[in-house]
Amino acid sequence: MSEGIGYAGDRFVSLTEPVVPIEDRAHQFGDGVYEVIRVYRGRPFLMEYHLDRFVKSANFISLPLDRSTEDLRVLIHEAIARAGFPEAQVYFQLSRGFAKREHGFPAIASHLTLTVRPVDEGKLASLWRTGQQMILAEDIRWKHCHIKSLNLLPNVWTKQMAIDSGAHDAIFVRDDRVTECTSSNIAIVRDGVIITHPANEWILHGVTRRFLLEHARSTGLPVEEAVFSPDSLFTADEVFTMGTLSEVTPVNMIDGREVGLHADLPGSIVRKLRSALREAAKLA
Ligand SMILES: Cc1ncc(COP(=O)(O)O)c(C=O)c1O
Repeated sequence: MSEGIGYAGDRFVSLTEPVVPIEDRAHQFGDGVYEVIRVYRGRPFLMEYHLDRFVKSANFISLPLDRSTEDLRVLIHEAIARAGFPEAQVYFQLSRGFAKREHGFPAIASHLTLTVRPVDEGKLASLWRTGQQMILAEDIRWKHCHIKSLNLLPNVWTKQMAIDSGAHDAIFVRDDRVTECTSSNIAIVRDGVIITHPANEWILHGVTRRFLLEHARSTGLPVEEAVFSPDSLFTADEVFTMGTLSEVTPVNMIDGREVGLHADLPGSIVRKLRSALREAAKLA
């Protein structure tokens, strides 16, 4: 099976073809934004939410789009069809472009690159059964976490810290408040209420979070967008993460302590939410 396909600027390429010039601002400054869309049965899931956030992220950093949203939509569909994987992930990023390395924004065309790769469903299925082991870590990111920017050094650094300590991931904590994880949002359930950090500048406004909160509200599951402390994680009935590739996944251990009343199996809210997401993905 092929590893995937790529696209750069205006043409499809193999993933190994060198296509990015040395003076691309994305790799010199992390100057750009990105998205990841999950493809189920050959169809992109929640694509409109992703496109909406992509445009917002680009606007926040005054990054001109290199094409219309409609053209981007067409390109994504074509890339998925060419790659031919029923279960896939589409990654795309928009760099501010290529220019002599100077900090100020140059007046040049932005540059889009995209990849489509297959998704290994087995890994997630096994995490669903075992739950995730997490560590708490200081949220060392900047003040604009709602922008899906290419600057992911604090995220990858903290993720590696988690891996080095034998955990799956880390939960960011800023000033005694739980914000999110290195590549997913986090929620707790207390007395039937789903509690998750408000969608402000301290977290990425996850597409999966958005879908699940909309679903919860429309089916009468109470939701509270409120800050909560790390201590609340240890007394919650359920703890779970939300993300495009990780879907809805329970957390069963934090800093070596079991969490959730159902540490041995996913709790009832997390199960409901996962079924809703999978059901919607099948129908998407
Ligand atoms: C920091 C962070 N939070 C949350 C998420 C989840 O967002 P989404 O559901 O849109 O994938 C991601 C996804 O990459 C992320 O990087």
